[in-house]
Amino acid sequence: MRILVATASRYGSTREVGERLAATLAVDLERQMIEAEIDVIDVVDVEDIAFYDAAIIGSAVYFGRWLRPARDLIDREQHNLHQLPVWLFSSGPVGDNTPATGSAMTAPWAREHRTFPGKLDRSTLRRSERLVAAVLRAPDVDDRDFVEIDGWAHDIASSLAGSRPGRSQIVS
Ligand SMILES: Cc1cc2nc3c(=O)[nH]c(=O)nc-3n(C[C@H](O)[C@H](O)[C@H](O)COP(=O)(O)O)c2cc1C
Repeated sequence: MRILVATASRYGSTREVGERLAATLAVDLERQMIEAEIDVIDVVDVEDIAFYDAAIIGSAVYFGRWLRPARDLIDREQHNLHQLPVWLFSSGPVGDNTPATGSAMTAPWAREHRTFPGKLDRSTLRRSERLVAAVLRAPDVDDRDFVEIDGWAHDIASSLAGSRPGRSQIVS
């Protein structure tokens, strides 16, 4: 089984979420004795979605939207994305004041779209972004919850294991 984990990240925190999802998924699938090749790459490096049996695609959210390269991938690969199980995630809110991400990416064909809290380190931001962070009173925090992220990876692994011919769904 070939699985794509593709992320769009400006400062790396969303990429790390993708890496964690892939690592947890790999362990779960190995336990199930399912041979899986998992590509963890940037969305700009995705050549052909049709090559994969399943995909997880995530983007950081800036100003209520996914980053452009992630939006471009979804637009470009619409046809192929309809043919596979696809899970989407947004990595976004930090603190209480960042705008809601509900409409960051609309994709009724996706199995699920999760929003995970993100990470903000003002010292790394561009000047204009620092100003926005100040206006939003966004705190310097790492709100990512790797237990929650692992939980989602377990759900995806169960779903992939269950959809394979001749295999039963993982129960716990
Ligand atoms: C200028 C700016 C705008 C942001 N806008 C949003 C937003 O609209 N909604 C949201 O949920 N998070 C927003 N965030 C928080 C980022 O999505 C969060 O920091 C994310 O973890 C960054 O991911 P990255 O490290 O992969 O780039 C914003 C952050 C900055 C600096």
